[in-house]
Amino acid sequence: MVRKINISEKLRDTLSLGDTDAYRLVDGAGDDLPGIYLDDFAGRRLLSTTAPSLSPELNDWAVGLAPAITTYWKHLDQEEKKAPSLIAGTKLTEPFEIRECGIRYLVSFQSGYSQGIFLDQRENRIRVRDRSQAGDTILNTFSYTGAFSVCAALSGATTTTLDLSQPYLDWARENMALNRIETQSQHFCKGDAFHWLRRFARQNRRFTGIILDPPTFSRDHRGKVFRAEEHYGELVALAAACLAPGGWILCTTNCRRLPDHAFTRMVTEALPPRVRLESHPMPPDFTDDPYLKTLMVET
Ligand SMILES: C[S@@+](CC[C@H](N)C(=O)[O-])C[C@H]1O[C@@H](n2cnc3c(N)ncnc32)[C@H](O)[C@@H]1O
Repeated sequence: MVRKINISEKLRDTLSLGDTDAYRLVDGAGDDLPGIYLDDFAGRRLLSTTAPSLSPELNDWAVGLAPAITTYWKHLDQEEKKAPSLIAGTKLTEPFEIRECGIRYLVSFQSGYSQGIFLDQRENRIRVRDRSQAGDTILNTFSYTGAFSVCAALSGATTTTLDLSQPYLDWARENMALNRIETQSQHFCKGDAFHWLRRFARQNRRFTGIILDPPTFSRDHRGKVFRAEEHYGELVALAAACLAPGGWILCTTNCRRLPDHAFTRMVTEALPPRVRLESHPMPPDFTDDPYLKTLMVET
């Protein structure tokens, strides 16, 4: 039997965010439902499971919870990485808009394994918005669809959005346009983050704020492997070399193999003495294992 769950309770908590219509409704073991996750993206639901198939009982449970425009399902599998499939409601053929703290983002259920925004980074996006101001230069490495850049640019900063993938950089431009940000005055950089950080340092290019949210595994343009649990410190050192005096670095990772204390040690050891580190918990709708680690570094 799948446990009954009080969705309205979660909705009430997350609605206190103000002008937000995308959040996690069910968070696995945090809701006594291990391996079962349910996200709401402006009325479009995404059920994700660690189990490779969807039982009829779970299907009925997800669909029967509360009215939704549509419900999709995806198997959480880092190898297979399949796009979600429709289980009930309207088939989505286009990306659609969600709002988070009044900011608009394009979400897609057809563009692959990820949907265009990581809901667990909501509070970090707001941190970036609140820390940025006119005159700042913010570098968003591993930018994906540029959500952090949107937040910084909305506060008046000039952003550099950096990713390996041109389609994601195009998506980032669309997210900016959706929020009436003039993309001509923002920078977009296609390429390897490690390469570009070294290059910016050599060119004496300095940023007021740098966002580091790498995948847990990556290769640089020469094929050198990056594993968050081993090499995060090297990434922080590269970023620190591009930081303007008094600048900040947002260090975050979803690497489950990296315990909190080891992450803090790696980040601290990569930085000069006397920087300030502030650790932040996950957003309140994420009640399962706190895998996402965040350190705001102030110099
Ligand atoms: C986990 S996502 C980042 C999520 C993003 N920070 C956010 O919150 O929206 C990883 C991104 O890193 C990019 N990426 C992977 N390896 C890279 C590399 N070596 N240099 C630059 N970008 C890379 C991928 O294309 C992907 O968009």
